[in-house]
Amino acid sequence: MASGNGSNFEALVASCRQGPLNAVVELLVVNNPGCGAQRRAERLGVACQVIDHRLHPQRQSLDQALLLAFQAARVDLVVMAGWMRIVTPVLIDAFPARLVNIHPSLLPSFAGLDGIGQALAAGVALTGCTAHLVTEQVDGGPILVQAAVPVLAGDDHSSLSRRIHQQEHRILPLAVALAAQRLGPARLDQG
Ligand code: GRF
Repeated sequence: MASGNGSNFEALVASCRQGPLNAVVELLVVNNPGCGAQRRAERLGVACQVIDHRLHPQRQSLDQALLLAFQAARVDLVVMAGWMRIVTPVLIDAFPARLVNIHPSLLPSFAGLDGIGQALAAGVALTGCTAHLVTEQVDGGPILVQAAVPVLAGDDHSSLSRRIHQQEHRILPLAVALAAQRLGPARLDQG
């Protein structure tokens, strides 16, 4: 699931194709037609479905459409790789312990919108990124993997964002592997 640029999506595909992640990205779903993630999927030959949130005024109805897409693609695990919508129990409960999110801060610090801007405004010396399981509490589910990134003198949003993204691309595949390992083969087969 992606809403924007899609660099985390591409990192996941690369990790599946070149290792070490032993998985296949079956489907990308985007909510913004024409976004960078969609273009990356076309280039990479990954199936992509547009599910535009503007056609789903209720969050539950958007999540129901997502759920149908994932069930049709028979996926075992779902990754919110820059998904800028709040998800509801319609999706969360359908993928217990198999819905992973990536957030650009060391949670529980700087949850919510613009974790990078929040860290810069707070003047912290250390921030980073967190991959975690999704629960109803936004950015509040059990943490799978974190990476720390120092805030350097002279950093602005874009320089800090670049270094956080590098770490996100490293930890997101690890988090997916960890989530799958925790589930075990039997539970993944039920998906
Ligand atoms: C990442 O910083 C992620 O933590 C946040 O949205 C951003 C997505 O970046 N949830 P990209 O689209 O994968 O490049």
